[in-house]
Amino acid sequence: MAYNPLANAPKQALALLEGQGMVAVYEATGGKVTSDFAAHNLTLIPPIPSGSIIHDNACGAGTVSRLILSHSSPAAPDVKIHATDIDPVFLSTLESDVAKNSWPVEVSNQKAEALSFPDNTFTHSITNIAIFMTASAGLDAAKEIHRTLQPGGVAIVNCWEALVWLFPIKLVAESTRGGKPMPAPPISWNDGVQIQKIMAEAGFKKENMRVDRAEVWAKTSDLRGGPRRVGRFWAGWAGWAGGRRG
Ligand SMILES: C[S@@+](CC[C@H](N)C(=O)[O-])C[C@H]1O[C@@H](n2cnc3c(N)ncnc32)[C@H](O)[C@@H]1O
Repeated sequence: MAYNPLANAPKQALALLEGQGMVAVYEATGGKVTSDFAAHNLTLIPPIPSGSIIHDNACGAGTVSRLILSHSSPAAPDVKIHATDIDPVFLSTLESDVAKNSWPVEVSNQKAEALSFPDNTFTHSITNIAIFMTASAGLDAAKEIHRTLQPGGVAIVNCWEALVWLFPIKLVAESTRGGKPMPAPPISWNDGVQIQKIMAEAGFKKENMRVDRAEVWAKTSDLRGGPRRVGRFWAGWAGWAGGRRG
């Protein structure tokens, strides 16, 4: 059965996670840090030249696409971006901004593990903070990145090393569930081994890979609402427990 993070979710969490509200909550909780990672990624590669064909893979609401477009004009007026994700709410948010702004972005619903693009399509393929969410511990998505990238093209893939915000959620989850340990992710991505392993298995040569680390952070002055939104958005990680919820 497919994993359903909303199964048994309390109404307070559903109010945040359903429909367009989810995009706003995502932007208010993880948006700053994913965007900072995306911006850092773009500093690691030469400026994107005119004529580039770029894949914003697992694009969410288009963090990477938006950054590329905000930086590229007028240096690279002719880029074409293909933005793909499996979440219709994120996709429709991006699609409506694409239409409003006439951006050179084609948005489509595609699994990162089975892309419809032909081999050797992209000059750049960027998967920002998403590979660890894909099936087969990221390997199938990594293979698709390799298959769809032109020879000599640039791929950027990243994952979390440490999730400082998860610790308070873990403490709350464990103390409200009689000490039952919060499940650890089945694969640990935090030492960088898994991400390099799948990229190598997908066909990227070790000598062509570069490993980099970045630290990002966000602060809030909303000390009540900020943590509450983070908690309700991410607490489903451990599965929602039945019973009374505050
Ligand atoms: C943490 S968000 C990052 C989104 C975006 N790349 C950014 O930088 O804001 C992870 C994204 O991966 C998408 N995702 C998860 N599994 C996926 C899959 N198998 N194929 C495509 N997208 C997937 C989710 O829908 C979500 O939009």
